[in-house]
Amino acid sequence: MLAQTPHAFAPLRSLSLSLCGRSCLLTLLLSLALLASAAHAQGNGNGNNGNGNNGDTGNNGKPTKPNPKDPAQNYMEIPPNSSGQEGGVCRAQGRCFRRTLTCPAQCSKRKPRMAKKVKGCFIDCSKCETTCKFRKPNCEGYGAICYDPRFIGGDGVMFYFHGGKGENFALVSDSQLQINAHFIGSRPQGRTRDFTWIQALAVLFQDHTFVLRAKPVATSAWNDSVDAMVMEWDGAVVSIADGEDWVSADGEVTAERTAEANAVRVAVGRMVEMDVRVAPIGEEERRVHNYRLPEDDAFAHLEMQFRFKNLTDGVEGVLGQTYRPGYTSPVKRGVAMPMMGGEDRYRTPSLLSPQCTSCRFNPPASTSSI
Ligand SMILES: *[C@@H]1O[C@H](CO)[C@@H](O)[C@H](O)[C@H]1NC(C)=O
Ligand SMILES: *[C@@H]1O[C@H](CO)[C@@H](O)[C@H](O)[C@H]1NC(C)=O
Ligand SMILES: *[C@@H]1O[C@H](CO)[C@@H](O)[C@H](O)[C@H]1NC(C)=O
Repeated sequence: MLAQTPHAFAPLRSLSLSLCGRSCLLTLLLSLALLASAAHAQGNGNGNNGNGNNGDTGNNGKPTKPNPKDPAQNYMEIPPNSSGQEGGVCRAQGRCFRRTLTCPAQCSKRKPRMAKKVKGCFIDCSKCETTCKFRKPNCEGYGAICYDPRFIGGDGVMFYFHGGKGENFALVSDSQLQINAHFIGSRPQGRTRDFTWIQALAVLFQDHTFVLRAKPVATSAWNDSVDAMVMEWDGAVVSIADGEDWVSADGEVTAERTAEANAVRVAVGRMVEMDVRVAPIGEEERRVHNYRLPEDDAFAHLEMQFRFKNLTDGVEGVLGQTYRPGYTSPVKRGVAMPMMGGEDRYRTPSLLSPQCTSCRFNPPASTSSI
């Protein structure tokens, strides 16, 4: 079903951490970690670890915080001024506290229509600035998974999880929701492990599935203007018309393009919103990391950033566990590639299976087959 329903059930929130080069990542993560732990110490221990669910709601009961765990995004939305420029008032303690940030005239809205052509406004309450950007996963933000998969946890801690080539793992498993990922990869001769990337995602909720997949593309055929993203709702291909939102028949899922091709934003229930993009592995990346991949395969894979809205305290999964209140990351700090284990706890028999040793999602009985 196609429908032009921008606000079918829940306002989609903008992401607003601005992009940060790898060189400033450490500084950024350090400050984020400090701020996040400060927020925890300030009585965030009521168990609400998702975003927008800390009892901090606007006048119509909808959450007004894009993501209280992410200081850069911690602002209260304010109505557009008479020129139509939206804005926000920063709430995170720090140098932007209580500052009003107004979107530039060139990108007056956080979530513009025609997102392929019009940049969105990003409010950044860690830098006290607003910038115009196409909405894409921010690989340095909370809940991001990019590259050979490198995660930024809900606790702000960066880690790598290799998984295994051809295997599937639960990224998030909670009572109402599970998100599995399919890993592709390659093992050059003489290496002891696979280089891996995430090729597909499956969101399982109620008795539904929403799948996002990167199509295999030959290196020579890669063109960022040609869509290599496939989406499926309960097994049927979802196509999104130009400038429209796609909404599932029951209104639980919305999807929209955030670029001409290869980038979408998907929201499922009131549980998760994600920016997902398809990326190839470029020449430079191959050389720097010495992946030694087959030349004829672009290894099209997904880069993503999740924003969760209603996780429980016991949330599981490679990424999900890092959103638990009081979670202490087991990964080594201060090393170039901090590793997260847990393959055996989070491996699922297939992309669509809810089953893993530590999984918590219980689909309705009728669909609980493997
Ligand atoms: C809206 O806000 C912008 C930025 O602060 C400002 O330049 C512009 O004049 C405002 N428009 C009106 C009508 O107040
Ligand atoms: C990429 O695809 C677009 C749209 O189909 C096309 O106009 C453009 O020429 C292509 N670019 C290359 C380098 O093939
Ligand atoms: C959050 O999840 C709980 C169950 O875990 C559910 O009862 C509640 O309605 C959910 N809240 C929202 C806003 O969806």
